[in-house]
Amino acid sequence: MVLDMDGMRLRKAMSQYATGIAVATTLDEDGLPHGLTINSFNSVSLDPPLVLWSLSHKSGNLEAFTQSGHFAINILSQQQKDISMRFATPDVDRFAGTDWQKGKLGSPVLSGVVASMDCKVEQMVEGGDHVIFIGRVVEANHTDSPPLLYHGGAYHSLGPVLD
Ligand SMILES: Cc1cc2nc3c(=O)[nH]c(=O)nc-3n(C[C@H](O)[C@H](O)[C@H](O)COP(=O)(O)O)c2cc1C
Repeated sequence: MVLDMDGMRLRKAMSQYATGIAVATTLDEDGLPHGLTINSFNSVSLDPPLVLWSLSHKSGNLEAFTQSGHFAINILSQQQKDISMRFATPDVDRFAGTDWQKGKLGSPVLSGVVASMDCKVEQMVEGGDHVIFIGRVVEANHTDSPPLLYHGGAYHSLGPVLD
């Protein structure tokens, strides 16, 4: 079977699937924080509590995340578009000017996020040009602040609740 599919068509179709925005973080063995903006985050299981996200093989953070054995998911608020953009920009100090503290396993938890999860890496699965990280959630926190949304390649805020 010949698949008539190129990356751009898939990207355009996927961009119709609205998501939140998260920053995935970890801490390396020298105690240095690493992180990047992601929207591939999703829940997997409640019992046991598992989540997943995928990291590009091209990422400069690949070694940090595959070596550390833990990560945190920081779900950004409507006020944190600048953080989303900074953590997707190469060659900048992404953590400069961003308050954070170590979560339960050491991964950075950013201040002002609407929710965070500390996760122990349960499994790393090869998925084409990405590695899928499946994590066991060992701690989760949330607030009721409105989240930052992403749709059609642009940032959005929550609209009114539909009846
Ligand atoms: C909205 C948005 C979502 C993204 N989602 C992902 C993702 O799920 N996985 C990924 O590997 N990169 C994702 N990226 C791209 C990374 O944030 C970006 O390539 C970053 O520069 C990678 O940095 P690194 O090479 O330092 O890891 C996303 C970027 C944006 C703006």
